[in-house]
Amino acid sequence: MSHTNANQTQTTSIDNQPKRILTGVTTTGIPHLGNYVGAIRPAIQSAQNGNDDDQSFFFLADYHSIIKCSDPKQIHESTKAIAATWLACGLDPEKVVFYRQSDVPEIPELAWILNCSCSKGLMNRAHAYKAAVDANNEKADVDPDHGITMGLFGYPVLMAADILMFNATHVPVGRDQIQHVEMARDIAGTFNHKYKSLFTLPSAVVDDNVALLTGLDGRKMSKSYGNTIPLFGDGNPQVDPEKQMRKAIMQIVTNSQAPEEPKDPDDSVIFEIYQAFATPAEIADLRSQYESGIAWGDAKQILFEKINGEIAPFRERYFELMANPKELEEILLMGAEKARRHSRKQLDKTRRAIGIKPLAKLK
Ligand code: TRP
Repeated sequence: MSHTNANQTQTTSIDNQPKRILTGVTTTGIPHLGNYVGAIRPAIQSAQNGNDDDQSFFFLADYHSIIKCSDPKQIHESTKAIAATWLACGLDPEKVVFYRQSDVPEIPELAWILNCSCSKGLMNRAHAYKAAVDANNEKADVDPDHGITMGLFGYPVLMAADILMFNATHVPVGRDQIQHVEMARDIAGTFNHKYKSLFTLPSAVVDDNVALLTGLDGRKMSKSYGNTIPLFGDGNPQVDPEKQMRKAIMQIVTNSQAPEEPKDPDDSVIFEIYQAFATPAEIADLRSQYESGIAWGDAKQILFEKINGEIAPFRERYFELMANPKELEEILLMGAEKARRHSRKQLDKTRRAIGIKPLAKLK
């Protein structure tokens, strides 16, 4: 683990205190194997194995998702599938605070207040915004801000509100989100200096051991490339999800080496994905099978069995929750209630600090 933006002193002082771990998932798309290995599994493990004094907050960032996606049905379905996935994979909603961002109205309210402690110039430097402007500038006769909403521009402020609302100390994220956590730090510093020290400065935590999976076609596994291995199938009830997983694995692109030829494990997507699931002994065994010339079809079968062995026990619970959204809804509302015990207080302090408070006590 590395604390990307914390200097030595901050890292040490943070590590001696109970951690408050918080992370969010945008609700677009249906979880795939890359999400499982990169975010879901490590987050659940850290909540299970963490110190008893640590507190974990996991939430569905549905107000963030409408920045990227304006299909209401997709947002809705994705929220349901992601919530069901996290719970089916073992997240214990009694142990962590598991909620939906939109159930905590204090968050967008805080985002507005933080907007007023965030310089526009800081947002001009955000990678996602700059990339969108660059893409426009490459086209002739297109305004630099063409198609860019205030939602996209202010995305990091809403994310800062998510984080600062709960005084998170550790924010596990992928590399692409480090800048956003640093912006949250920056905004917190500005507010604390201008008014009152109310917000903890968060640190991004990037786990270098977490595998970034390659997709079926050799590019990074990503929904936008359509090269993923779905965790629980694509939602089509006609096709058995286990069969769908096997079919996807059989589609992994390989070279044209003949079955008995020795193969290079370090240049193989099958082997790479296998390493994210297998024990060191199993990995060593497959490595030697590569060297003695395993057929691609057999390597894929071994990979399928390994992944399926880990995921199969979660399937029943996933489909049970998907078929019973009432249970999901109750779990999320219970999480929101826990989250709001914190957020109501934090927002109240923030409003008082900026001078927004009752003019007089009424009996
Ligand atoms: N922006 C994050 C992503 O796309 C999701 C997110 C929203 C988040 N709010 C957050 C992550 C707060 C960590 C903390 O992955």
